[in-house]
Amino acid sequence: MSHRINLEYCPQHVAIIMDGNGRWARQHGLPRLAGHRAGVLNGRRVIDVFCEYQVRYLTVYAFSTENWKRSRSEIDGFFKILAGRISQDSQFLNERGVKVRHLGRLDGLPDELQENTNKLIELTKDNTGMVLSIALNYGGRVEILDAVRRFIIQGVPAHDVDETSFSRYLYTSGIPDPDLFIRTGGEMRLSNFLLWQAAYAELYYTPVLWPDFDRVEIEKSLLSYSQRQRRFGGLEPGE
Ligand code: IPE
Ligand code: IPE
Ligand code: MG
Repeated sequence: MSHRINLEYCPQHVAIIMDGNGRWARQHGLPRLAGHRAGVLNGRRVIDVFCEYQVRYLTVYAFSTENWKRSRSEIDGFFKILAGRISQDSQFLNERGVKVRHLGRLDGLPDELQENTNKLIELTKDNTGMVLSIALNYGGRVEILDAVRRFIIQGVPAHDVDETSFSRYLYTSGIPDPDLFIRTGGEMRLSNFLLWQAAYAELYYTPVLWPDFDRVEIEKSLLSYSQRQRRFGGLEPGE
């Protein structure tokens, strides 16, 4: 039996800034890494619910190019937790037919994390279910600059540079733009996530901290999305 709520529209692509692990830990009187452990574990639950709603693309922000400013111990601890979770959740993701992609720069990350991520991408490469993109060591500006560099290196003539051709050089090549852009943890900013792709995304902010972002909270975000009027600069029919 399905427990799904009825929605008039469901987003095809959901992007999430998974924020609030540190504050969750503080609320529980725990060290920040305990918050990251709870947050990384929550990924599985969230993926399950979005699979149930047949969302085709889910893109999650796990580590930004700015997160290197944090303490060495937090960064190392976070990467270790993430590497472990990626390997433990491989089977679960594969069984659900999820195809995993990485957005960002893998080089610079610890070997174990690179290996586990690459193994998961390889394991799931022929799957035809939800496409899960993990933005890890990702920055929206670096992504755009990387695309410009590749354009120049390949000698693409100026008149061939348009929105469609440019999009193909981004890390998200082949993935449609996000429809619903969620940020947990209460901040109302983009923090360098999907700067190009989010041009017309519907934004949804919630004060709920990432480890507490569960089925009920996901359904609230989907319901909010289904009530939006997307005009893309045009007008409502009949106006
Ligand atoms: C998000 O949680 C996870 C990462 C950026 C790795 P934070 O660690 O930013 O949690 P807060 O914002 O301090 O609560
Ligand atoms: C954004 O959260 C990055 C990720 C969730 C991976 P941050 O906690 O790093 O963002 P700021 O510092 O509040 O903008
Ligand atoms: Mg934060």
